[in-house]
Order: sequence, then C-alpha cells, then structure tokens
Amino acid sequence: MDMPIRPRRLRASETLRKMVRETRMDASTLIYPLFFMDGTNRKEEISSLPGQFRYTVDRASEIMDEISESGVKSVLLFGIPDKKDELGSGAWAPDGAVQRAVRAIKEKYPQIFCITDVCMCEYTSQGHCGAIEGCDVDNDKTLELLSKAALSHAQAGADMVAPSDMMDGRVAAIRATLDSNGFANTPIMSYAVKYASAFYGPFREAADSAPAFGDRQSYQMDIHNRREGMKEALLDAAEGADILMVKPAMSYLDMVREIKDATNLPLATYSVSGEYAMVKAAAANGWISEDRIVCEMAVSAFRAGADLYISYYAKELAKFIKEGRIG
Ligand code: PBG
Repeated sequence: MDMPIRPRRLRASETLRKMVRETRMDASTLIYPLFFMDGTNRKEEISSLPGQFRYTVDRASEIMDEISESGVKSVLLFGIPDKKDELGSGAWAPDGAVQRAVRAIKEKYPQIFCITDVCMCEYTSQGHCGAIEGCDVDNDKTLELLSKAALSHAQAGADMVAPSDMMDGRVAAIRATLDSNGFANTPIMSYAVKYASAFYGPFREAADSAPAFGDRQSYQMDIHNRREGMKEALLDAAEGADILMVKPAMSYLDMVREIKDATNLPLATYSVSGEYAMVKAAAANGWISEDRIVCEMAVSAFRAGADLYISYYAKELAKFIKEGRIG
C-alpha cells in the first residue's frame, strides 16, 4: 500500500518509543502532602484516604524516612490542631503542629523541601477558610490572619508557603508581610485556580475542616468557569506569586494547559483527596489496575503542562519513575 506516513513506525520497540517520548518525568517534580497533629505518639490512618496517616510530630521520622528513600524531595504540610477557635488563632501559633513539624523536618532532613499550606479552615471552629462576619468570610480581615500564619511558617523554617484560601489579594498581603520581616526570598506557591470541588471531601475528614454552615462557594471558584481561572492566575502572578497551582488536577487539566500557555511561571497541579480515594476504592474492588491508573493520572497532568505534581501517590510515582515504568 502506498502510505508514506505510518505513525506505527515510531512505536515499534520500547527503545524507540522512549526516544520519541514527549513527556519526561522526574521525581524532583513530585510533592507529597502530609498531615501533622498536636500531641505525642500518635499515628492515625485517615479512613477516607486508606494508606495515608496523620502523625504527631515526634513520629515524623516514620514517614520522612520513607519519603527520603523514595526519591521524593518535597512535602506539603497541613496542621490539625487539638483546639480550634472562631478566628483560627492556632494557624500562627509558634508551637503549632505545622511549625513544629517544619522545625523537626528541617533539622533531621535538611534536604527535604518543606512547603506549608496556608489556610484557616483547619484552625477555625466554624470550618471556613477565614474570619466570619455576618454569614460570610470577611476577605480583608482574613488577609491579616493569613499573613500572620505565613510569617509564622517562614519563621519556623518553611522553604515555601502555599496559600489555599482563595481570598482576594492574599498573595500581595503575604508577600508584603514576608518581605518586611526578612523573608523576601521565601517563595509563594499560590493555589491560584482553586475550584469549589466535591473532590476535597476526603481531605475535610483528614483535616476535620468541613464548614460548620454553608459551603466554600463564595471564595472558591465556580466549576463552570474557564476565563475566571485565567483572571485568578494572572492576578496572583501580578501580586508576586512565584508558582501557580490548578486544583483539583484530573478534571481541570484544560486549565493546566491554558495557564501554562498564558503565563511564564512554573505551574503545579494538585491531585486531590477525592482523586486518590476513588482510585483506592476501585482498586480495592479489583476493578482497575491501581499502578497503571496512578501513572496515567500523573502523566496526563505533566502532558497538560504541569511542572509540579502534588499527589498522595508521590512515593509510588517516584518508584515507578525509578523503575522506568513512566517518564
Ligand atoms: C485548605 C485546603 C483544602 C485542600 C487543600 N488545602 C481543602 C478545602 O479547600 O476544602 C484540599 C486537598 C485535598 O482534597 O486533597 N483550604
């Protein structure tokens, strides 16, 4: 048959397929989310995230040794305080779980890059991502709280802070606070394009952070909107964000591609708790091949344009990369 163009020619062998592969992966682009709680000598499995645990800081090495060995270089830390209050004052407590976790990790594992999630919802008794005024979150008042939290993380030794609250102007507010306190070199990874998503369900159990009333739709984005995502990304870039993030990942890869093309900042995407939980549930039923699904999800994020991938499967992905199964 006269057919000069035959795409199958380049798929003939493993070596050739790898030569022409378009998406390359490296474990240094993976970020592993990790939950720390107050108290001592506790490690609790998160029932909605089988295989993921909450640790007290004194037991951090149990998971940090595993992370170090896996080849993952970076963690994203969340704190779960014993006591919550209306304003979420635990968020900036110098001896809070996140602050202590950062100090402990940087001391024993200085090579691990520590990113801290900056938000109020784990610390407020009302479960919202900021201070409540009337029946909604007060944007400008919340900026002060977030700035204090971010500063306390930087003071504890955080390598990067990651605001996930979706208040207007929070990147500029946090940048100004860090700069005027001697942390001009601490980067901000902004959860810039964060949708009001049901995919966060299992996380809210993990962090005990479900809102006591209402939902997060007055601050997180409407799932129907694309251009608004671009508006948020460009705003955060203009406010001084160093890295942008799209969240969730799997159902929002259109946004990953668009923002990658429209900005010149590194781009992260977060494969959130609901994505992990769905894979775990289906795998437990024997309906899917867990490893291959996890690989496909990660590759699709990088193919869409992500530079960094935040995943509860980061350790496994690092292993798959090492074994040459992906990347
Ligand atoms: C805090 C925060 C959330 C997640 C990351 N930071 C929860 C939320 O916004 O409700 C979700 C992470 C996940 O689902 O894995 N605001």
